[in-house]
Amino acid sequence: MAKHLLSLWNFDRPALQAYIDLALRLKKESKAGVRHQLLAGRVVGLIFEKPSTRTRVSFEAAMYGLGGQVIYLSGRDTQLARNEPLKDMARVMDRYVDGLVVRTYGQEVVEELGRYSQVPVINALTDLHHPCQILSDVLTVIEKRGEIANQKIAWVGDGNNMANSWIQAAGRFGFHLTLACPPGYEPNAQILAEARQNGTGTIELTSDPVAAVKNADVINCDVWASMGQESEQEARLQIFQAYQVNDALLAQAKPGAIVLHCLPAHRGEEITDEVLEGPQCVAFDQAENKLHIHKAILASHLG
Ligand code: CP
Ligand code: NVA
Repeated sequence: MAKHLLSLWNFDRPALQAYIDLALRLKKESKAGVRHQLLAGRVVGLIFEKPSTRTRVSFEAAMYGLGGQVIYLSGRDTQLARNEPLKDMARVMDRYVDGLVVRTYGQEVVEELGRYSQVPVINALTDLHHPCQILSDVLTVIEKRGEIANQKIAWVGDGNNMANSWIQAAGRFGFHLTLACPPGYEPNAQILAEARQNGTGTIELTSDPVAAVKNADVINCDVWASMGQESEQEARLQIFQAYQVNDALLAQAKPGAIVLHCLPAHRGEEITDEVLEGPQCVAFDQAENKLHIHKAILASHLG
């Protein structure tokens, strides 16, 4: 298994499935009252240059839940804010902690940390990828639908970090993914080409949200303006209007289709309050699964 978790593409299907299987086991055991000690005596460092509720707290709770400890550093608390080179940061931190969980802007930041760090680096979101989130999303689909490989999954909205990681998941797990994005807001072309060429799933791209959700088992959405794109918020509100997940769009999917949202949600923008609070939306179970999948990731890389 790769030492670092920087994108899903660095793992084959059995390795990705192993995270899911371990998460399912740890979830079941912890709900039965088992107190795990898999990472007793281990310390993980969290370096977050962007805000986070779910990812930070679930990684921290996951580490404590496995008997380990956490040191949290916001970007401005470190010398990175004063331009200390990443390669120096990596070669210092790896002497103090057993792993690094990093949320930042450029994918090249986690790649550079990974190049120099002797301890595992876990990508907790960059502008390009959100691999840990998509693993908990896949876990949620498997729990709710029984499997992933034969699912028809729709992505509606921005071709952002989440969309890119979903493309890699389709290529590895072999499911059918259709992405509906406004022209000019498509996912990363290189990631898409690579997954289509060397992956096992089928991946379609359209600008038509209705076509994308037709007969879908799973509908997926996310904010229209991601962290770092705040200045584009107003313009994107107009551009993405037709990409709202609402009752009319949901009616085009298979009856009983589930709706995923990684949260935080902007009700009335990418998703209506009715859909988010409705019976088909599983966003809060999906959020819970971040805890279980993060335990599996930490145990696999630091154990
Ligand atoms: N879904 C997710 O990554 O949420 P946070 O930004 O709160 O971590
Ligand atoms: N695409 C969103 C995901 C937030 C969890 C962002 O990057 O802000």
